[in-house]
Amino acid sequence: MGWIKAICTADIAAGECQGVELNGIEIAIYNVDGRFHATSNICTHQKAYLTEGYLDGEFIECPLHQGRFNVVTGDADGAPVTQPVRVFPIVVEGTDVLIDVGNES
Ligand code: FES
Repeated sequence: MGWIKAICTADIAAGECQGVELNGIEIAIYNVDGRFHATSNICTHQKAYLTEGYLDGEFIECPLHQGRFNVVTGDADGAPVTQPVRVFPIVVEGTDVLIDVGNES
């Protein structure tokens, strides 16, 4: 599938996150101190939207049961989450933020 433009850099301020849907996949984009990261937007515990949670540095806290994930690695970081969340490749070209969603839809 290749790279798809998801947002513009100005759309997400540092310390904020935003959900987008690309090819039917719910993706969360995070701006961590000017660096962009992307994960699945669906918590691996009980399917809450991570972008409705709280971004604390490199960690997103799920709004439903406060499980945490590292948004850089996808690793689970705190009960009740045990399964990592999928991470997507992301690059910035000029003011465009591009994500590679792979071959799935
Ligand atoms: S749904 Fe995310 S921690 Fe339970």
